[in-house]
Amino acid sequence: MTDTEFKRHRRLRNSATMRQFVRETHLTVNDLVYPLFIVEGERIKKEVSSMPGVFQISLDYLDEEIEELLALGIPSILLFGVPKEKDEVGSGAYDPEGIVQQAIRHIKNKTDQLLVIADTCLCEYTSHGHCGVIVHQDVDNDKSLPLHVKTAVTQAEAGADIIAPSNMMDGFVKEIRKGLDEAGFQEIPIMSYAVKYASAFYGPFRDAAGSAPQFGDRKTYQMDPSNRLEAWREAASDIEEGADFLIVKPALSYMDIIRDVKNQHSVPVVAYNVSGEYSMVKAASINGWVDEKAIVMEKLISMKRAGADIIITYFAKDVAKWLQNS
Ligand code: PBG
Repeated sequence: MTDTEFKRHRRLRNSATMRQFVRETHLTVNDLVYPLFIVEGERIKKEVSSMPGVFQISLDYLDEEIEELLALGIPSILLFGVPKEKDEVGSGAYDPEGIVQQAIRHIKNKTDQLLVIADTCLCEYTSHGHCGVIVHQDVDNDKSLPLHVKTAVTQAEAGADIIAPSNMMDGFVKEIRKGLDEAGFQEIPIMSYAVKYASAFYGPFRDAAGSAPQFGDRKTYQMDPSNRLEAWREAASDIEEGADFLIVKPALSYMDIIRDVKNQHSVPVVAYNVSGEYSMVKAASINGWVDEKAIVMEKLISMKRAGADIIITYFAKDVAKWLQNS
């Protein structure tokens, strides 16, 4: 110690310029993915009751949505479909004329400036709301896989830039990789929801996507929130099977897992700031209990500090505006 008996940490905090100079983590608009819910029908722009500021939109509202996102400089969107009809086997998910496939084609016709990520799952399309085919009251892994492969291939055919399977079946990365390759889509990356917990934080999403399970829960395929080592195994097998990105979901209560995955793998790590995490902040902000902008920016920078390279968030538009003004 030179001048005193203790360390002067405050030296590096003594002005805004100094703090900016020594800042270790940065959040930019390039880190953001904005989720979009596309609903079948016409002239629909319906706010999700549990997610103020988030809308289900029909195809005819897509153009204005895209223009807004491009103006904000948001580089990527994640698409979910809300179909009119559902059935036992989720046919709408892999219909070449399905709502997401139509949306992808529409967006790709309009712009090449947005990376279009397709969520690959059946739960929005099945009458029972589960992420696969039901046999004896549970989702059958191996019977569901071919349907997820078909879904991914139709999404790639429509023009998706990235396939993001969220169904949590074992072997989904391997089978989807094989299916994409066989269909000539060797260059389309897989952003795997590798580490996806069975979380109560998905509640508002199920309102947004109309995908709540009609019986039981998702605990036989999504992970137990108590487990850490299991996340390592899930991430490792997805890397072995060919994943190009790894998603950890939810984000806020799983920062330790984001750090583990970041330390163990060299692919980009994606944090999914899920619906419940959005709704909690929104509710508190609307009540005037917290400073929304400050809370959201702190949450997102913390996710990056934990190891996330990319963040999927319903706050993406707000964050883009705040970053523009700062
Ligand atoms: C589909 C899927 C879900 C979410 C993303 N993809 C719902 C679920 O697994 O129940 C949740 C996203 C969110 O809560 O924001 N399987």
